[in-house]
Amino acid sequence: MAISLLLLLLLIVPLSPTFSKPNATHAHTQHCLENEKTLLLELKNELVFNSSYSTRLVHWNQKEDCCSWEGVECDDAGHVIHLRLFDEGISGGLNESSSLFRLHYLEELSLAGNLFSGLLPHNITNLKRLSSLGLSYCNFSGAIPSTLGNLTQLVDLEMAYNFFSGSISSGHFEGFSKVEYIDLRYNSLSGSIPISIFSIPSLRWIYLQDNQLSGKVDEFAIVNISQLSILDLSSNRLESPIPNSFIKLQSLSYLYLSDNLFNDTFQMDKFLSLPNLVSLSLSNNNLSLFGSHSFAVNQSSLESLDLSNNLIAGEIPNWIWEIGNGALYDVNLSSNMLVGLQKPYQIPTSLRFLDLHSNHLRGEFPNLEGLSLSNNNFSVSGLLDLSDNMIAGEIPNWIWEIGNASLYFLNLSCNMLVGLQKPYHIPNSLQFLDLHSNQLQGEFPTLSLKHTTNVDFSNNQFDQFGILETGNETAVFGNSEFSLSNNSLSGSIPTFFCTAATFSTLDLSFNHLSGSIPRCLFENSVVLNLGGNNISGWIPHKISPSCQLMILDLSNNNLVGDVLDSMGNCRALWVLDLSNNKLSGTVPTSLCKALDLRSLDLSVNNLNGNIPRCVVGSHLVALNLGRNNITGRVPNFTAVCRLQSLDLNNNNLIGDVPQSLENCESLKVVNVGGNQLDGTFPCMLPSSLRVLVLHGNRFHGGLRCDKSWSNLQIFDIANNNFSGNVDPLNFSDWRTMMRDTVTKVSYEYLASKSAITDNFTLVGYIEKVSLIIKGMERNLVKIWPDFTSIDLSCNNFQGGIPDSLGELNALYLLNLSHNSFTGTIPKSLSNLTGLGALDLSVNQLTGKIPKEIAGLTFLQVMNVSHNKLVGEIPTGPQIQTFPGDCFEGNIGLCGLPLNISCIASPPNAKSDEKTEIEWDYVFAAAGYVVGFGSFLWVLIFRRSFRERYFEKIEDVYEKIVSLRKKKKRRVVGRRVVRNQARRH
Ligand SMILES: *[C@@H]1O[C@H](CO)[C@@H](O)[C@H](O)[C@H]1NC(C)=O
Ligand SMILES: *[C@@H]1O[C@H](CO)[C@@H](O)[C@H](O)[C@H]1NC(C)=O
Repeated sequence: MAISLLLLLLLIVPLSPTFSKPNATHAHTQHCLENEKTLLLELKNELVFNSSYSTRLVHWNQKEDCCSWEGVECDDAGHVIHLRLFDEGISGGLNESSSLFRLHYLEELSLAGNLFSGLLPHNITNLKRLSSLGLSYCNFSGAIPSTLGNLTQLVDLEMAYNFFSGSISSGHFEGFSKVEYIDLRYNSLSGSIPISIFSIPSLRWIYLQDNQLSGKVDEFAIVNISQLSILDLSSNRLESPIPNSFIKLQSLSYLYLSDNLFNDTFQMDKFLSLPNLVSLSLSNNNLSLFGSHSFAVNQSSLESLDLSNNLIAGEIPNWIWEIGNGALYDVNLSSNMLVGLQKPYQIPTSLRFLDLHSNHLRGEFPNLEGLSLSNNNFSVSGLLDLSDNMIAGEIPNWIWEIGNASLYFLNLSCNMLVGLQKPYHIPNSLQFLDLHSNQLQGEFPTLSLKHTTNVDFSNNQFDQFGILETGNETAVFGNSEFSLSNNSLSGSIPTFFCTAATFSTLDLSFNHLSGSIPRCLFENSVVLNLGGNNISGWIPHKISPSCQLMILDLSNNNLVGDVLDSMGNCRALWVLDLSNNKLSGTVPTSLCKALDLRSLDLSVNNLNGNIPRCVVGSHLVALNLGRNNITGRVPNFTAVCRLQSLDLNNNNLIGDVPQSLENCESLKVVNVGGNQLDGTFPCMLPSSLRVLVLHGNRFHGGLRCDKSWSNLQIFDIANNNFSGNVDPLNFSDWRTMMRDTVTKVSYEYLASKSAITDNFTLVGYIEKVSLIIKGMERNLVKIWPDFTSIDLSCNNFQGGIPDSLGELNALYLLNLSHNSFTGTIPKSLSNLTGLGALDLSVNQLTGKIPKEIAGLTFLQVMNVSHNKLVGEIPTGPQIQTFPGDCFEGNIGLCGLPLNISCIASPPNAKSDEKTEIEWDYVFAAAGYVVGFGSFLWVLIFRRSFRERYFEKIEDVYEKIVSLRKKKKRRVVGRRVVRNQARRH
């Protein structure tokens, strides 16, 4: 609703100021004054403008009479009184000395929609006769001239959509006595709102929304403004109770105070006494509602009421429905803590939009707690949103009839509904039907959704396509988006979907569908997701060149055969995910015809051959070919490289990591583990890197690079032939593994939040994934992006373990085993307070185990076996509970859990190598992070998947948690995550 209000506002604004235009516009009388003509020509000279864009300025001086120039009007005496230079392609600064400010007779000046730079000159106030000043969309910045109030004739002041900053003071408005319209919205003004603005008696419209105004709005001395009709202070940082003095504004029609920090109780009854109030928006504040039935609500003329996202609890008061005497059409009470409706109530027939989502409504239709709904007393004719409540039972069939079957939007998702009452008569008016995340069972309803464009039945328990069994009645789908994902549907994909009209999105993923894929689906859809089923056979042959697919996900099925050349006919592809099938053959070069390909995931198949060089195009963001039998070298990357994730793990690649990866400045994930790569450490990798996995290759040499990777969180170079000292890794710079930096990282992610919800774009999407999780739920923070590990095991590293490792206090896993580290175990490791697993086994470490290590309370796995450690094993809360194997092979070590008394000397050394930490198990978690590129699009494009993804992440989380022997997760937590995910 906030959006519709905004739209409304935008519509109103250009229309509303109907100012008495000053008399005298005689554009065509021949009487241009010579000195004013000179000024105009000087002005034209001064201004930098795009002459191919300009429609007025560019033609000046083609006629003798300057009063007939485009955008210029004069009065009878030949003085220029109107200057209209809006949208003229002007750029650059405007000078204090500009000749513009010597056109003293100007009454109207419009410069809106030009690209000025810098400050608005003070000398604008030389134009004392101005009654209308239009400076919106001008790109001005800095303070508003303090003398603006000298423009005593001003009626209309428009300075919206600039970058004006600083505070607005009383002085700014001091001389104003005729101003009717002030528009300063969408600037960066700060400080409090000067009371003087409310003492301009002529004011009718004030727009101050979307600034950074703050402070209290105390009881304003609002006495003089009897004409104020629109007041918009929304999206600022105002903090106080809503002052009751607003009700002195008897002409007020529109009051918008949403998106602030207004708090305390809000005395609704007082505001309803405003006789002209039409629209009231208080959403996104911290208000609780207060009001009573004692006032004459039905004398109010309110049409639209938005109290969403506040702290309103209890029952919806029955007087709400009596507001407006039949005019009320839009009520938004969503995201509060409402439990039901107070009786008696009669929902007015005028109501078109009713949004109660995300409250605590419970019960079953028709008797929600306190609310007895039926078609007789419940009439909403446009939008009904009851999602994210606790409504159980069946969806009643009268719901399709409410508002005389005129609903266009019905959302009952995220409740506990179990079925649909028959018969269904989905009204033709319905365009959006969202029932996802309920417990709907049985047959998918036999619906004839002629006009419904968005249907979401995902996350339910439907197990049959009922619609097919209806025989000859062919329902017509004209949907643009249709999802049945995450149900229990089985059998083959009904050809019904082929006879239906085109789908822009068809999502049947995560069911138990089998059989092969009807080729027609490739011709109908733009987004097709059949992932996570049991679909077998080949990918359809001969895909037509008219293929419009942008996103194709067939992952996690049993597809066999080649990735066919004809796949290249889908030239619009952005995302292709065929991972986790049984595909064979090579990566076809025809895929290169999809010039916009962002994400290619063919991982976990049986593909062989080389990686075609052309696949690595400049648009590619994620490439995942892991777990195949691909041979040859890693191809070179383009000079303009947008790659963020490169996963080629477990293939048979040879050669080195190409130098050209340095072009990929956004690269975050590199996983080339489990190949036969050689060469030295890839120092060229950009500093954006977060995940680097080189394990199980033939890399060799030292780690000497002249840079460091402060964003690294997973660093796995195990099982290679690296050698030398590890000091050059500069652990002190690995900020992401330090806890004090974690919050900072999360803020950076939040900064790009708007991009994800609004745009249908994949660029930069990996970051966004972490953003979603990060912004979502604190419990997930531990996994991603904060899951951290360092694995240097099974190399030939020598020298001491650097003290600086102890600075990485967010580190969870540290494995230095099977090297030749010497010296003592640094005490600083005891600063790794988040450490869950520490493996130092099979090295040459000497000395005692520092007693501080015993204080690491999160440590669940520790192995120091097969070193040259001596002395008593320190005692601590955990350390004695580890198996003795973890300490053996150290001739001089004694104490618990070893069965060697520190007094009795003869050592009883056994040699047993099977005490290693099960790193594979632990890395299942990391692997999930590393391999995440493939289903990223899912997160972006389909809400229901996002929820699923979070569940998976939680599974991984549980693995780690169980490693920590803390099984505290509750089912409730999961629901919270789902619900929160839904909102993003
Ligand atoms: C406006 O101009 C018209 C004709 O030019 C004249 O009759 C009228 O009196 C003027 N009004 C004012 C307020 O000057
Ligand atoms: C601004 O206007 C004043 C008054 O007309 C004038 O004296 C002054 O020179 C102007 N400033 C500049 C920088 O031209």
